Amino acid sequence: MNAQKTFENIKKLLKKHNQSHLLAFWGQLNAAQRQNLLAQIRQLDFLKIDNWVADFVKKPTSAEIGADFAPAQSYGPDPADTEQKSKYGKAVELGRELIRQSKVAALVVAGGQATRLEFEGPKGNFPISPVKNKTLFQIFAESIAAASEKYQTVCPWYIMTSPLNHAVTCEIFRSNDYYGLREKDVFIFQQGTLPNFSFDGKILLADKANIASSPDGHGGSLKALYKSGALKDMKRRGVKFISYFQVDNPLVNIFDPLFIGLHVLDGAEMSSKALIKAGPEEKVGNFCLVDGKVTVIEYSDFPDELAEKRNPDGSLVFELGSIAIHIINTSFVEKLNVRGASLPLHRAVKKILHIDEKGEHVEPAEPNSIKLESFVFDALPLASKSIILQTLRSQEFAPTKNLTGVDSIETARQMMVARAADWLESAGVTVPGKPDGSVDATLEIAPGFALEKDDVKAKLKQIPEIKPKDKLYLA
Ligand code: UD1
Repeated sequence: MNAQKTFENIKKLLKKHNQSHLLAFWGQLNAAQRQNLLAQIRQLDFLKIDNWVADFVKKPTSAEIGADFAPAQSYGPDPADTEQKSKYGKAVELGRELIRQSKVAALVVAGGQATRLEFEGPKGNFPISPVKNKTLFQIFAESIAAASEKYQTVCPWYIMTSPLNHAVTCEIFRSNDYYGLREKDVFIFQQGTLPNFSFDGKILLADKANIASSPDGHGGSLKALYKSGALKDMKRRGVKFISYFQVDNPLVNIFDPLFIGLHVLDGAEMSSKALIKAGPEEKVGNFCLVDGKVTVIEYSDFPDELAEKRNPDGSLVFELGSIAIHIINTSFVEKLNVRGASLPLHRAVKKILHIDEKGEHVEPAEPNSIKLESFVFDALPLASKSIILQTLRSQEFAPTKNLTGVDSIETARQMMVARAADWLESAGVTVPGKPDGSVDATLEIAPGFALEKDDVKAKLKQIPEIKPKDKLYLA
């Protein structure tokens, strides 16, 4: 087909779908810009876009809570009875064996922007550890290296970026020599994007030759794993289980034999870790059972009256919060892609830079546009089976979302020190404390020194006496 005919076809297509304005500045573009813009338009699926405009863009998402709705069930952090104790024991053994056999890979979703941290660059490059100021990426890399060493295997690491931070993330890994990991065991891949819309459903132009778009949400990881070849790489290595986590949690236990083992013993396809919410208003997703299926309802969509509902003993009825840690079977990811299953989209009203119909740049003072995203936890109800394992906040969850206050750099560092103190004390080491119960020293345990609490006991001889106000790094 010649270029003119292609152009005419695209023009017709855009007209049919009310998006003709995308070619408004055609006359002002050079040949390369024209080609580039046409390529972007050709990638859009206008039938889907019409549905998105009707379902998500023009109307606020309504979180409809159906009748068959209940709190989700979970495994406790410790076994509830002797029968469960034996199951946990078996699960740990199985989990360890699967890690040893290289059947488990790590996947971090790191495509978001660190806007709330006011940090330039990928959030994974944020320096966070209390003594050495290691970045999040370095902490994860060292944990993965330590797991490989502990289990005498190779634990591969998959890192999802977005067009906003892919090149710079690759450069960070290159310039840090992959933090001691082998380059071939680190697979960095990009998620997709979705166009941005005006409130009346028009796709926005970033400039005269480019469509405005945003990363498609962490739910995009399921598609991107497939499209990028990461899933193929996993299959080649014999990986069957993906340990999924977010870039903002320095306490994550990436290779947790108990979690992996329970997931496999129960024949689950996608499972989750949860904790008991700090209160009804905590900003985490809520685990529920909807039509018998484990489902996460984001805090912003969860009705206050349900969030506040309490049992006679005072505990929250919907007490299980999501810490965005999952085990996902590679076969499940493949199945979803082969079937062309798509996750629902969620609408966010954002300030998005774009041009107006005169071609002038709009720098919005107020949120002016719609961004659509998919969430990975929306795949849970599609799984044939899904389990939830409760964990302890103090051991595994220090979300680094804000500069100060709740879920901040400050609280994450405090939690890293507190967990190090807890591990040391449980091995019999005396740690100085302040009158308010907090630790009176700055402590950092490198993943190579101990990956979990029980690892500390074997290293007791290497631990010096800790005096008040000491700064101690154990590696
Ligand atoms: C998220 C979860 C919430 C959970 C909480 C735990 C959502 C909507 N909410 O909240 O249920 O309880 O974490 O801390 O996910 N990311 C991408 N690509 C994207 C968007 C995000 O890779 O397009 C990554 C980010 O880099 C980050 C993670 O996803 O690692 C979470 O994104 P963020 O926007 O920070 O989610 P929260 O609202 O904090």
